[in-house]
Amino acid sequence: MGLYKNNTELSRRGGRKLSRFSNNGLLFWVFSLAVLCFISFAVFGLGMHFHGKLERGMLPWRELQEDYIGHDVPDRPTKKPRRQRFFPCEVAFRDSIDFLIEPKDFLNFTQFSLGYMGTEKEASHIDAHEPKFGGHQTLEEREQSFFAVNQTIRCGFVRGAEGFPSTGFDLKEEDKRYMSTCRVVVSSCIFGNSDFLRRPTSKLISEYSKKNVCFVMFVDEETLSTLSTEGSTPDDGGFVGLWKLVVVKNLPYTDMRKTGKVPKFLTHRLFPSSRYSIWLDSKLRLTTDPLLIIDHFLWQTGSEYAISNHYTRHCVWEEVLQNKRLNKYNHTAIDEQFSFYQSDGLTKFDPSDPNLPLPSYVPEGSFIVRAHTPMSNLFSCLWFNEVDRFTSRDQLSFTYTFLKLKRMNPDKPFHLNMFKDCERRSLVKLFHHREPSSPPPPRIS
Ligand SMILES: *[C@@H]1O[C@H](CO)[C@@H](O)[C@H](O)[C@H]1NC(C)=O
Ligand SMILES: *[C@@H]1O[C@H](CO)[C@@H](O)[C@H](O)[C@H]1NC(C)=O
Ligand SMILES: *[C@@H]1O[C@H](CO)[C@@H](O)[C@H](O)[C@H]1NC(C)=O
Repeated sequence: MGLYKNNTELSRRGGRKLSRFSNNGLLFWVFSLAVLCFISFAVFGLGMHFHGKLERGMLPWRELQEDYIGHDVPDRPTKKPRRQRFFPCEVAFRDSIDFLIEPKDFLNFTQFSLGYMGTEKEASHIDAHEPKFGGHQTLEEREQSFFAVNQTIRCGFVRGAEGFPSTGFDLKEEDKRYMSTCRVVVSSCIFGNSDFLRRPTSKLISEYSKKNVCFVMFVDEETLSTLSTEGSTPDDGGFVGLWKLVVVKNLPYTDMRKTGKVPKFLTHRLFPSSRYSIWLDSKLRLTTDPLLIIDHFLWQTGSEYAISNHYTRHCVWEEVLQNKRLNKYNHTAIDEQFSFYQSDGLTKFDPSDPNLPLPSYVPEGSFIVRAHTPMSNLFSCLWFNEVDRFTSRDQLSFTYTFLKLKRMNPDKPFHLNMFKDCERRSLVKLFHHREPSSPPPPRIS
């Protein structure tokens, strides 16, 4: 256990600023310590027992073995995946939610009033087009949408004029009513049978959060029926454990990954009264109380948006190569997006730049914590619009969107907290997405 303490020391001392430059070094030490730790396990064959607080921050070895290179494993690996391992680091959460209070005036970040376009009937340039969920945004309108001023922008859910069919993401009225009551939201989605249902670890979630936080899992009908055959049948209220399953009909995109970006980015639209939200990819099981997460990543750092960096890549150039290497998306479409971004100010990640605006230019977007402030909502809409216009690979558009938003609003700060990937790993348990025809996972919780 002494070994583990050292990791904690290191990461504490590293602090937020320093860690921008020492991530790789830290990773090396963490990795070396972990190897030492593993050797000592193997040599002494000890059954280790983890007690109390430390347990929250780390996972037993058995579980770590499942946790290699995350979602970058190709869907059908042709060769053995590279077994590079990544480890969680301890996060200094408060001990309990009992004395948590939202800091006074916390939501007084950059203020302006953001409206969302519901239909496009006024716009003349789209007469010839079918209505689209993301709308038909011209490049001039896109440019304008980056200004943090009172304005009405496209942010998904754009309907056609009367008489046109729905543009998709249709929900039951009773589900919409439920969602409109939520103040704090944890949400996730499974579309196209792409994953199992991983329930939050109930014993680690406070009674307060169970009562006051909405846990919503968006699924399509196909996924719902598969989950039901696997024993995850919703009760009369639509719940499976803490998850409320909300069925989405008429998916707006044929690309399921793109459809998944609707609940991922547009939480503030789906839950119009919500003040805070946590997004979890379906491959993650939540093992930390949502209020402790909001306190740690937003309140304590004065941030309105928090996302982790990528565990190995920091430059969009690398990310583009990797996406092509693993055939993640149509190469021509990736090239079009990438050259557009280069011509509009995207630069390479330069770790020697003392004014680096982000600790990494590649996010690991499977876990996002948000306060629903105007700037945070604007960023979410802009990022969604990039995914709608270009590819569904959101790691490609994150930094471009962030830098452009910053550049176009020099006097209006956006408080984004990019935290370390090892922290993300200590809040959740990571699995692989469902492989075609693999057996269901053991049911815990
Ligand atoms: C928000 O309010 C607090 C407390 O009044 C103040 O210290 C802080 O500077 C304010 N932040 C902004 C962005 O106005
Ligand atoms: C922006 O909208 C807010 C709230 O509706 C209003 O108080 C403010 O005066 C508006 N600002 C401008 C510049 O129009
Ligand atoms: C790939 O993307 C390009 C550019 O967006 C498009 O013209 C082409 O049809 C796409 N190819 C496939 C196979 O979808």
